[in-house]
Amino acid sequence: MHFIKVLVSSAILTASGAAFAAEEVSVERGRLVSIIGSCHDCHTDGYREAEGALDPTKALRGKAIGWRGPWGTTYANNLRWSVQDLSEDGYVTYIKTLRTLPPMPWYNVRVMPESDIRSFYRYVKSLGDPGAFLPRTAGPGEEPRTPFVTLEPPQMPKPCSRDLDCGVGEVCSAAPVRQCVKK
Ligand code: HEC
Repeated sequence: MHFIKVLVSSAILTASGAAFAAEEVSVERGRLVSIIGSCHDCHTDGYREAEGALDPTKALRGKAIGWRGPWGTTYANNLRWSVQDLSEDGYVTYIKTLRTLPPMPWYNVRVMPESDIRSFYRYVKSLGDPGAFLPRTAGPGEEPRTPFVTLEPPQMPKPCSRDLDCGVGEVCSAAPVRQCVKK
């Protein structure tokens, strides 16, 4: 099953790659980069739910559902704003040096070829009116004002064989599942 999936996805990539010359810069190529790069999965409201049907009024306008973890709560930004503020050359430098909080995969966009970044910029610009800003990032320990997804794994109880294996104020619970629990 996994083998078939890999075959299918590489066939799609080859097919789409063949449609463009390596250095071509175009809005259509930028649209493709945004889809293959998974940008809409986080930055476009309702995209996952619509199983990839792109609503042009919502495309890359960000999502007000937060991502909460040890870094605080972040929001997948409205990407239409930074293309308003920056020139195309400025945007290339911006993406090549981007570093953000999680879960934005900034290390992936940094390796995008320049022609892809330029195409992405033109695509985002073609989407038009940026619309509203999103909720601001909440710091660690600050309560977010929106619904959020928690990315912190739950702390599982520590396995033990005797009380001494556990921390202060904890005891090792009885068999069959011996784990540290509060006294
Ligand atoms: C897993 C979710 C996720 C994916 C996938 C994702 N982003 Fe992000 N992105 C975020 C989050 C969350 C932030 C905000 C990070 C912060 O506040 O530091 C962000 C921030 C950004 C920023 C900086 C803010 C701004 O408005 O300029 C850029 C640029 C960006 N993303 C571009 C992209 C591009 C391009 C793609 C696709 C190639 C992409 N992102 C895919 C979640 C994601």
